[in-house]
Amino acid sequence: MKTPVITGSGLYTPPQSISNEDLVACYNQYVERYNGEHAAEIEAGQVQALAPSSVEFIYKASGIRSRHVVDREGVLDLDFMRPRIEMRGEDQPSLMCEMGMAASRQALERAGRTPADVDLVIVACSNMQRPYPAIAVEIQHYLGCGGFAYDMNVACASAAFGIQAGVDAVRAGSARAALVVSPEICSGHLNWRNRDCHFIFGDAATAVLIEPSDRAGSGTRFEVLGTRMQTQFSNNIRNNFGFLNACEVPQRAWDDVLFHQEGRKVFKEVVPLASELMLGHLDSLGVSPQSVRRFWLHQANLNMNQLIARKVLGRDPDVTEAPVILDEYANTSSAGSVIAFHKYHDDLQPGDVGVLCAFGAGYSAGSVVIKRI
Ligand code: COA
Repeated sequence: MKTPVITGSGLYTPPQSISNEDLVACYNQYVERYNGEHAAEIEAGQVQALAPSSVEFIYKASGIRSRHVVDREGVLDLDFMRPRIEMRGEDQPSLMCEMGMAASRQALERAGRTPADVDLVIVACSNMQRPYPAIAVEIQHYLGCGGFAYDMNVACASAAFGIQAGVDAVRAGSARAALVVSPEICSGHLNWRNRDCHFIFGDAATAVLIEPSDRAGSGTRFEVLGTRMQTQFSNNIRNNFGFLNACEVPQRAWDDVLFHQEGRKVFKEVVPLASELMLGHLDSLGVSPQSVRRFWLHQANLNMNQLIARKVLGRDPDVTEAPVILDEYANTSSAGSVIAFHKYHDDLQPGDVGVLCAFGAGYSAGSVVIKRI
């Protein structure tokens, strides 16, 4: 059995972004127009008036200040309110493929590897641009990797589940080097007209390279001490988009095939799920939570992350122990915990232990315990 090591990570950040101020200004214009157009029905009690959003609420409830998106103009266009994505021919790489490749190239560069060294590509994310051919096979092709590739979806926990699959393949020798890629275009499944969630998501792509210790390069390396995954069915975060939508009788409402959630319930139920998963996992590895130098947590809500870290550490975490990226990126689904890892790991010293923990719809949660070598 080989010892799996993370040897590189990469991040693609879309150049365009939207501040809470710009987002709320657009949403509130939409509300004003909607309420004006439906004034008579609202007056007659047949239609519910929409309430305005607020910058203060968004920051206080979530910790989000802005989000990167693939198309700012489309999202802020009152008549469109979603990203405009140019349709591409089948002979061109898809947008997800392009974003995933940018992150992958950076991960390979950091590991001192080339695409030819990779023989397993896993695309692990919440929303695939199409059912098939797999985005992972497309990335494998355009990057020039060998071996095999497949897509998998475990919602926001996808990257952790993907790392586990890559780690298992490297450990067993079924792959020499595994690239786990998480391209997320969350702006495409977000309901920008829903006040409860219009501020939640952003776009980004990440990649992580896993290799056996006996051939890992001399860059920043982390031995994978263990992985532990857990799922538990819940309808509190749901997206009903699928290939049967067109066949369903009656047809679903347009917003039922976009992201929707019961945010309060998610908060309450996922905090114990994620914290207990990490505590049990660390205990099984003989690692005390207090000795963990860093927690790279899924980035959905700042208050939730602070509570999870507090439950694991037994005290409030400081900013270096549980770094935050959602203020700039918002929730980038499966990419979030890897963005935190990518930006905040260089200062760890040999022997330092960290935990990457991702959680989300399903429910699903994954813990990956790593040690700097
Ligand atoms: N602007 C202003 N007020 C708003 C608002 C907005 N954009 N959205 C909601 N409100 C109001 C609500 O109407 C409610 O008003 P009321 O008290 O008069 O009824 C109040 O603010 C509180 O709303 P609530 O939805 O209960 O807020 P919250 O504190 O639970 O925060 C979330 C909402 C979504 C930020 C929070 O629940 C969350 O992040 N949960 C976890 C979600 C998660 O992790 N999901 C995983 C996705 S992968």
